[in-house]
Amino acid sequence: MTEPDFLYGTAWKEDRTPALVELALRAGFRAIDTANQRRHYFEEGVGKGLAAAYRARIVTRHDLFLQTKFTYQRGQDHRLPYDPAATLGVQVAQSMASSLEHLGTDHVNSYVLHGPASNYDWIDADAEVWEAMRRERDSGRTRLLGVSNVSLDHLEQMVTSGAELPAYVQNRCYARLGWDRDVRLFCRERNIIYQGFSLLTANQEVVHHPLIARTAASKGTTPAQIVFSFARAIGILPLTGTSSAEHMKQDLSSRDLTLPSEVVQAIESI
Ligand SMILES: NC(=O)c1ccc[n+]([C@@H]2O[C@H](COP(=O)([O-])OP(=O)(O)OC[C@H]3O[C@@H](n4cnc5c(N)ncnc54)[C@H](OP(=O)(O)O)[C@@H]3O)[C@@H](O)[C@H]2O)c1
Repeated sequence: MTEPDFLYGTAWKEDRTPALVELALRAGFRAIDTANQRRHYFEEGVGKGLAAAYRARIVTRHDLFLQTKFTYQRGQDHRLPYDPAATLGVQVAQSMASSLEHLGTDHVNSYVLHGPASNYDWIDADAEVWEAMRRERDSGRTRLLGVSNVSLDHLEQMVTSGAELPAYVQNRCYARLGWDRDVRLFCRERNIIYQGFSLLTANQEVVHHPLIARTAASKGTTPAQIVFSFARAIGILPLTGTSSAEHMKQDLSSRDLTLPSEVVQAIESI
């Protein structure tokens, strides 16, 4: 598996998850993002979609980058993938074991902490979970580790506490916050790959901006493709959660679009 260049996100798809995962793989996606958080994701359904794609010989496990997440109880509903009375370290091990079963594999490519316990600080609970996630990595059940929904403060506190830094950061990108500029800069300086989600949904004012419309018209593309191409130009590894076969193809073909640097700068300052 080479480094992923576009992640297909599987949140909010419920019963359509298996068919949409298979469709995304047919369309050409090779990296899948999920979470063992039944409230928003149907990870078992992702596994069913993968199995169907293997049977149809669209891909093999070897071709894929699979990423899942550990989610604290506060982010879950009653359908927990671990014993809530167990220590956090045991919860991580149980959640991972359940993810591997759901996904029908003996390892994932990336294991992500869905969000720190506190919105402000990297606290002892996170250190305990992170240590358990490192054990999963050292035992071969994941290749790499990531953190999601983090602020610059969280990342700086990881540094000061001596924690190993993640290979991936996955955050929501708001154009009005400079597309998460501070966190992206931190990541760039430390060779952390920055994954961005809600690129379209959180930035409708950009999607509908005349500059985007003009750029799209001049390139013969759609505004969504310009936004994905722009995101890549500023160093973001994009996620998309589209349910449409047509949009899957469009999103992937945005990889072939190159925007002039002055256009990238202009979009960045919308
Ligand atoms: N770490 C976290 O806490 C977290 C939080 C949220 C999401 N995520 C991950 O990120 C993934 C993606 O989430 P997201 O919020 O970025 O996307 P999303 O909510 O799945 O939505 C993508 C939206 O953009 C539209 N779209 C996509 N491509 C398009 C195109 N070419 N033209 C027009 N519309 C297009 C889709 O509509 P159509 O379906 O009609 O194409 C959909 O409405 C999730 O599935 C999940 O894996 C992670």
